[in-house]
Amino acid sequence: MKAKQLKTLKNLKLSLKDESEAVKFYPKAAAIARKGKVKKAAKFFMKVVKDERKHKDRIQKLLKKLG
Ligand SMILES: [Fe+2]
Repeated sequence: MKAKQLKTLKNLKLSLKDESEAVKFYPKAAAIARKGKVKKAAKFFMKVVKDERKHKDRIQKLLKKLG
């Protein structure tokens, strides 16, 4: 594997880590917003979770193809 490909793999793995953290973080943020009766924020955070899950899934698929 070439250096450029290794760098891409490394970057994808770092991105996967970040996306995984986001998938865990935003539901907690939504729960806090719900607890504080800030429904609009809770709804927004849950929408963000869906997007982050999609990002995570895409990166995982890419890693499977490349790995
Ligand atoms: Fe993301």
